[in-house]
Amino acid sequence: MYSTIAGTGRYLPERVLSNHDLEKIVDTTDEWIRERTGIERRHIAAPGETTADLAEKAARRAMEAAGVTPAEIDFLVVGTTTPDVVFPNVGCLVQERLGIAGCAAFSVEAACSGFIYALSVADRFVATGKSRCALVIGAETLSRITDWNDRTTCVLFGDGAGAVVLKPAAEPGIISTHLAADGGYKDLLYHPYGPSRQRDPERDVEGPFIQMKGNEVFKVAVKTLQGIVDVALKANGMDQSAVNWLIPHQANLRIIQATAKRLGLSMERVICTLQDHGNTSAASVPMALDVAVRDGRIRRGDTLLLEAFGGGLTWGACLLRY
Ligand code: ACO
Repeated sequence: MYSTIAGTGRYLPERVLSNHDLEKIVDTTDEWIRERTGIERRHIAAPGETTADLAEKAARRAMEAAGVTPAEIDFLVVGTTTPDVVFPNVGCLVQERLGIAGCAAFSVEAACSGFIYALSVADRFVATGKSRCALVIGAETLSRITDWNDRTTCVLFGDGAGAVVLKPAAEPGIISTHLAADGGYKDLLYHPYGPSRQRDPERDVEGPFIQMKGNEVFKVAVKTLQGIVDVALKANGMDQSAVNWLIPHQANLRIIQATAKRLGLSMERVICTLQDHGNTSAASVPMALDVAVRDGRIRRGDTLLLEAFGGGLTWGACLLRY
């Protein structure tokens, strides 16, 4: 038995922040941001709007597309690094709103790879018959942990949520998932504080925001992503020409282009949403998937390669037949 994607959905907060808007906040230019990253605008959650709010809306759209009711969901997992609160986890918050008490509901925290990690977990439950209908969400409000005075990071991030419904199938569906991490790179990309390591204003100079050594992250991202897409193809004895669509994590256009080149894919075969969404961490891959499913580019039977990379460092890939 395999799992297969029965429906997709996404939700983006209403407020759009363009590169030109950012020019008024920090010392940057639209030209610099577009040339170095490919990003043109991003969505920002309204005051009081939380990750669970975005996640619920994306989930309802995915369930509608899949033709399932909330009552049919028996497994709920959310990839997020920006939960509403430490606990209850975002999965439980969404579960309560959907009125589906009883099923497992939890979050997976793997930064930008969070959705691929969550999808991998849900796939195992569906493919082994433990779940008949799983809801997998990637949702973030990165704007809440972004330093809006730091031009090296604030131009990159945005908020949003994407979701898929997974159901059992006799044929793949999800062909394989591949997860990896290297905590040795923990100092390249991190948030310095949490419930257990709290900020000491006398000692700590870093603010409670994303810290990133962008250049170094860039190099490791290119290397590890090229490695993991090779691993995914090799594990299934597949040639790169079998891939119809690459759905990459939307962090930087130059990183995406490097992975596409490795696969010998033209950019027409790559789903790019970062110009409109920025880097939305765990939400970026499911949102890009939903965009291309709804605009008709991705069709049933297409072979998709999903990949992501983020703080941890973590990375992962998923090969699937849509
Ligand atoms: N506007 C104008 N100039 C800027 C800006 C800005 N917003 N930001 C930096 N600069 C300047 C720098 O100060 C530097 O100036 P200098 O040469 O005078 O010192 C110059 O531009 C070049 O800076 P670099 O950091 O070398 O620029 P680079 O080409 O590496 O681009 C970027 C930076 C976009 C951050 C890139 O390194 C990148 O995308 N890195 C990977 C990010 C990523 O993938 N993160 C992973 C996921 S995030 C997560 O997990 C939450």
